[in-house]
This record gives sequence, C-alpha cells and structure tokens, in this order.
Amino acid sequence: MGYTIKAIASTENPEEYVETTYEAPSLGEADVYIKMKACGVCHTDYIFQSMVPPGTVLGHEPIGVIEELGSKVTKFEKGDLVGFSFLKNCCLDCPECNSGDDYLCRKRVMFPEGGNNGFAEAAVVNSRFVYKIPKGLEAKDAAPLMCAGVTVFSALIQSGVTPTGRIGVVGIGGLGHLALQFSRAWGCHVTAISTSPSKKEEALGFGAHDYISSRDFGEDFVIADEDKYDVILNTVSAKLNWDEYLTLLKPAGKFMMIGIPDGSIEVKDVVGMIMDRRAVVGTILGGRSMVTSMLEFATRHNIKPAVEEYPFTATGLADAIISCHTNKARYRGVLVAEDQ
Ligand SMILES: NC(=O)c1ccc[n+]([C@@H]2O[C@H](COP(=O)([O-])OP(=O)(O)OC[C@H]3O[C@@H](n4cnc5c(N)ncnc54)[C@H](OP(=O)(O)O)[C@@H]3O)[C@@H](O)[C@H]2O)c1
Ligand SMILES: [Zn+2]
Ligand SMILES: [Zn+2]
Repeated sequence: MGYTIKAIASTENPEEYVETTYEAPSLGEADVYIKMKACGVCHTDYIFQSMVPPGTVLGHEPIGVIEELGSKVTKFEKGDLVGFSFLKNCCLDCPECNSGDDYLCRKRVMFPEGGNNGFAEAAVVNSRFVYKIPKGLEAKDAAPLMCAGVTVFSALIQSGVTPTGRIGVVGIGGLGHLALQFSRAWGCHVTAISTSPSKKEEALGFGAHDYISSRDFGEDFVIADEDKYDVILNTVSAKLNWDEYLTLLKPAGKFMMIGIPDGSIEVKDVVGMIMDRRAVVGTILGGRSMVTSMLEFATRHNIKPAVEEYPFTATGLADAIISCHTNKARYRGVLVAEDQ
C-alpha cells in the first residue's frame, strides 16, 4: 500500500504556496520512507517555480529520519538522520555512472522529476541516493549541504584548483557563503566579490581573506596580475558583464558557471579568452560520490551554513522564497518541522 503525504505545492504566483497531499508509491525493496525534519530553500526552487505546473512540490535540500526500510536495504537503520539531493536515480551501469559522474548519466532522474521532493512531511526515496548525516550535524544545518554545499564543493573539484590557488567567489548568498567556507578549507586564497557592502564583515567571517565590491567594477577598475584568480565561482542568478569578470582570471583561469543567469552569456573579447586560454565551465551539483565526500570534508572542517529558520508551512516557504530572491536572506532559509 502506498502513502498519502502532506506537502507544500507551487501556485501560479511564485510568492504563494498551498498545502496539498500527494500519493507516493509503496516501498520498493531498495526504498526508504523518510519523515522530514528540515528542508533548505534554494534560489533554484524560485526559478523552477515558474517552469513547473502549479501544484508541483519542490524542495531539494531535505533532511529527515528513516521510519521504514525496504526489504533489501541494509546500509540504514530506522531512526538514522539522512538527506537526499538532486539526483534521485540513474542507470548505475554506464561510463558516467561507473566513473563517479552518475549525475551526468543519460538516464538520470533529477529534481524535480520523480516527485517525492523536499517540501513535504515525508518522502519515499531510493536508498542508493540517500546519505547518512554525520553525527553532530543538526538537520537544519545539514539541509543546505544537500544542494548548496555539494554544488560548490563539486565546482571546486571540477576546477582542479590546488591549495596554492586564488579563488574569487561571486555572489555571497546561499551557495556563495558556503563557497567561501569550502574554498578557505581547501587552502586557497579567497576573495568575496559582492554587490552588498553590508555582507563584507560576514564574508570575512566565513573565511574570505578579502572583499571586493562589484559596484566598483568599470573602466577604472584594475587588478594586478598577481592578484588575479585561478578560479572564479560564480553563484549569481543574473546577467553580469561577463568580459569584466573574465579579465579577473589569470591565464588558463576558469570561470565556473554555477548560478543560472536570466538570459544568454555574451563574451565580446573572444580573442582575449583564446590568447589566455580562459574557460567558462558549466557545473551542476554532484552525485553519490560527491555528496559523500562533501559531507566528510564539511565535517572535518566544521563547515556550517548560516541559517534562517522558517516554519515548515506554505507561509513559511513563501517567506523564505521572498527573502531569497530579494537578496535579504542571511544566508540560507531553511524550513524546520515543528516536532524539532
Ligand atoms: N549549478 C548548480 O548545480 C546549481 C545548484 C544550486 C543553485 N544554482 C543556482 O545558483 C544561483 C545561486 O543560488 P543561491 O541559492 O545561492 O541564491 P541566493 O541565495 O539568492 O544568492 C545569490 C547571490 O547573488 C548575488 N546577486 C543577486 N542578484 C544579483 C545581481 N542582479 N547582480 C549581481 N549579483 C547578484 C547576491 O549576492 P551579493 O549580495 O553578495 O551580491 C545573492 O546573495 C541560482 O541561480 C541557483 O539557481 C545552481
Ligand atoms: Zn539548489
Ligand atoms: Zn548511467
């Protein structure tokens, strides 16, 4: 027998949500039933809100407790605190899956596909895509690691930056404030690049060595060659002056495109890009290996998000979404269930 699960669904208004229920399937042999304790609210939820039909349940930073186990699940026990991420399934048998790039599998099932997302009281999930939360990490602090954390960690790995490198993090929001922490722990020199001078002190507190206001960019803005960046992690959800940012890179530098801009990317100085072998690289979260390594690294270095708590209700979600897309969040809104 399946489950009737209470959840919070989208409406036609991106700032309004409604309580709903949906039917989840009965537990498959590899599935677990997770009772939700917390779910982070990511800018991607706001973006997807306008792309999915009204009535869709979003949320992809869920943390909860395992209440039921499928007959063949051996790696978890009832009561384990666990989370799941963007990747819900894949073929487990292609070159991408076999090399640890399962999140690039052609048969991948990624959020919000497949339902059973995070803004709900529970979810039925394939246990192969569920991660045990390390001891000492509370649900509300673990939640943002399931998307924001693994996304910036994955981008660091894909960039190939070494501990001697210099990193610029653009946009100090949900992803950006974690990117500062991960990059600092990696050993790099870290610069926060932000439109919000009010975030400067906190950015330094998250691990940035210095802070640049992108409001100062323009023709007169120069940066010495030795101060340029090996890697820029761009977490902004808007169009930037791409040429301006590419000139901040050292030769062979990489501009990691994490944020989803509202439009195309236009680079005018293509010759400069070629002559200095600069790259713009798209990057998306990570799969089973990446989430597991990220959790280990975050625990080792005591990396924790700065969280704003909201009730796990339709109003709580609306308030968290508004706080995120109006750039008021400091730094990640998380819905927290009442029985915490
Ligand atoms: N690739 C992936 O796998 C992946 C995964 C998760 C999220 N994302 C995307 O990553 C982006 C960031 O997500 P998030 O949850 O961290 O969002 P967020 O909390 O809203 O942070 C984005 C930050 O960008 C800066 N910003 C906002 N508007 C700007 C503008 N017009 N110009 C310049 N900077 C601006 C702000 O930082 P300052 O105040 O410091 O300027 C803001 O805090 C979103 O586009 C999201 O969809 C991608
Ligand atoms: Zn996300
Ligand atoms: Zn595959």
